[in-house]
Amino acid sequence: MAYTKRLDGRKFDEMREIEGKVGVVKNADGSAMFKFGDTVAIAAVYGPKDLYPRFMQNPKKGKLRCYYDMISFSVNERKRPGPDRRSNEIGLVTEKSLTPVLSLENYPNAVVDVFVQIVQANAGTRCAGICAASLALADAGLDMKDLVCAVSAGVVDGKVLIDIDKYEEDVEGMTDIPIAILPRTGEVSLLQLDGKVNREELKEALELVKKVSKKIHNAQKKALQEKFK
Ligand code: CDP
Repeated sequence: MAYTKRLDGRKFDEMREIEGKVGVVKNADGSAMFKFGDTVAIAAVYGPKDLYPRFMQNPKKGKLRCYYDMISFSVNERKRPGPDRRSNEIGLVTEKSLTPVLSLENYPNAVVDVFVQIVQANAGTRCAGICAASLALADAGLDMKDLVCAVSAGVVDGKVLIDIDKYEEDVEGMTDIPIAILPRTGEVSLLQLDGKVNREELKEALELVKKVSKKIHNAQKKALQEKFK
């Protein structure tokens, strides 16, 4: 059956409601929440602080470490608590997508730890986590060149749609493409692909993500302004 209408009635280029907020974890050096509809991520930043064991220190630049966790009660069927292969992978891609914006050369011998917790999950959690983490790094006052805006595009039946939810992700033939963009330069710092696409579809997905990333960027700026105005 052709995919002519989205299951929740959204337009193909329409994201779910987004919202950002900073300063949500009191004891962290920086923190933020970011939502895509009912997908909710909280990020907490600790550091920069001295990196131990000392042999891991680099006098030329600091280290970014990201941890991702989807809390047991975040999904309908209870998820087994604790790290697994998926959370290790997402922690790693979160790190890779944030590294280009951080001026780590200004933090020799130091480490910055970022903990992303998914408190509600309905697909797109790695993207919500990346949006929250970049906001939390800014909230911590770290030297940054930009924020990072991430969202998942989906491709099915030759159609490209933005910010797919779990029902859409489970549609037969759906390709999930999480993408992170640096809004000032348009640089892509994450592009994953779970399925098949052709060149045109991928180009269209990138264009669509670039277009909606302006909205994500605005929500992030608004969140920072609300705390620091
Ligand atoms: O969340 P994201 O789209 O970045 O990653 P995914 O691995 O493609 O997971 C898609 C969705 O599957 C998650 O957002 C959750 O809603 C759901 N999921 C789940 O219900 N139980 C798990 N153990 C893992 C994922």
